[in-house]
Amino acid sequence: MFGTYHHKRVLTAITGAFLVLVGIGCELLGDDPTPGIGDVEEIAYQDHIQPIFDNRCAACHSGDRVEAGLRLDSWPSLIVGSDFGEALIPYSPEQSLMIKLLTRTNADPHPSGKRELTLDEVQLLKRWIEEGARGPEGKVPYSDSIELIYVANEGEPARTT
Ligand code: HEC
Repeated sequence: MFGTYHHKRVLTAITGAFLVLVGIGCELLGDDPTPGIGDVEEIAYQDHIQPIFDNRCAACHSGDRVEAGLRLDSWPSLIVGSDFGEALIPYSPEQSLMIKLLTRTNADPHPSGKRELTLDEVQLLKRWIEEGARGPEGKVPYSDSIELIYVANEGEPARTT
């Protein structure tokens, strides 16, 4: 009887250790894909885009911690941009700082580690910008500006023509 009891304790300990290891593994690998964004036909900001920001970016770009002055907890604040300028350019994912950072290959992607985006998430953000980066009511950002503005773009080489 004592033997059986002992045996059970050992089994419990092994199971426990296994669960802890699996837990650590998940924590390190960690890319919990944002739910509900596979096979999206028509992109709706609140259903498909904001959840990506909430899942991947909120820790550093909302609440008390707002890195670079860029707040990603709503469409209007995202469109306001960072302390340095616009985070994206509607219809142009290639020129959008956000996409450049998320896909950069010459350094760690942004953000890295546990919060790194899945390919699906990056693709969806790109497509959303390509279709105009529309907000919850379908509005294209900056579209009611009445003056033309010159946007200096850090990512573009200077042109001399
Ligand atoms: C672990 C913290 C962290 C997370 C998570 C994070 N960021 Fe950042 N982000 C920073 C820091 C720090 C900076 C400023 C320094 C830099 O550019 O790396 C920054 C800067 C930026 C900038 C550049 C702003 C500018 O004008 O220079 C963009 C765009 C940006 N983040 C987008 C995102 C997006 C989109 C996500 C989620 C997909 C995200 N970040 C997640 C920490 C984070």
